[in-house]
Amino acid sequence: PQPSVHSERGRVVASLPTGDSVEILLYGATVISWKANGRENLWVSEAAKLDGSKPVRGGVPIVFPCFGPPPKDHATGSLPQHGFARNSTWEYLGKSTSESEGKLASGGDDSIKLDFGLSSSQLTEDNKKAWGYDFALVYSVTLKRDGLQTMLSVRNQGEKAFEFQMLLHTYFRIDDISKVAVNGLGSTTYVDKVLDATTHTQSSPSLTITGEVDRVYSGIKQDTTSITQDGKPRLDVTRDGISDSVVWNPWIQKAKGMGDFEPKDGYKNMVCVEVGAVDGWQKLEAGETFEGGMIVKSHA
Ligand code: BG6
Repeated sequence: PQPSVHSERGRVVASLPTGDSVEILLYGATVISWKANGRENLWVSEAAKLDGSKPVRGGVPIVFPCFGPPPKDHATGSLPQHGFARNSTWEYLGKSTSESEGKLASGGDDSIKLDFGLSSSQLTEDNKKAWGYDFALVYSVTLKRDGLQTMLSVRNQGEKAFEFQMLLHTYFRIDDISKVAVNGLGSTTYVDKVLDATTHTQSSPSLTITGEVDRVYSGIKQDTTSITQDGKPRLDVTRDGISDSVVWNPWIQKAKGMGDFEPKDGYKNMVCVEVGAVDGWQKLEAGETFEGGMIVKSHA
């Protein structure tokens, strides 16, 4: 078997000879499924809207050009929470595959890279009015034998400099939140959005989740944040070109309050570990390009 890619009805699905696969909606360029070793690694709410009427509750929504509610006195001030990338329809730019001859019997080290684009000309009139910069985003999703890579490049195509934030808001699927730990954030400073919105330093190398968590870690020294389950490695999230990460779990009350969060006890089966650049703003001068993203490795 060869790596295969199908694109129809607003979705692109790619799979490797190993059976690993990835599925992306053009709406938001949202990765809604990533299977490796026969297992789904992403959590998507059963009530998530996949018809383009609302950002997807689950998978990997792309946050751009602002994280959270934008400050009113900033150029992003009239955009919705988390910006417009997650609720704009992107263009599928095509695939590139690499096959390793002679190794196919064992699955080879094939990979499939899928590119998606969103530029200012594709925005709705409302979004153009709210953020009138000339930009081009290219989001590359690469399915490899040993993991999934997602990289966002942001190019300033206009004459004016602009500021932005970006975040890959990944909902990871896990078996049981009470057995999960998020590691690699020790000694890092974070803003605790649940507690008091002020800065703290995490003393423990490992974070366990026993209630609502909404922490924005910045300037993380270690490249990899890993998720363990029952003390065993489950997912390794490695940042590339960026050094901030959000850890989010809505827990019981917040999950109840979200109409598109189902089942209501789904918070036990998900944890968001979101990589990005959200501490302050990234400034891009005319003609400049920024690139940041992640590689995720799933343990069998
Ligand atoms: C997280 C934020 O990244 O996204 C949370 O830190 C927020 O504060 C969460 O609640 C979900 O946001 P939304 O807009 O998808 O409901």
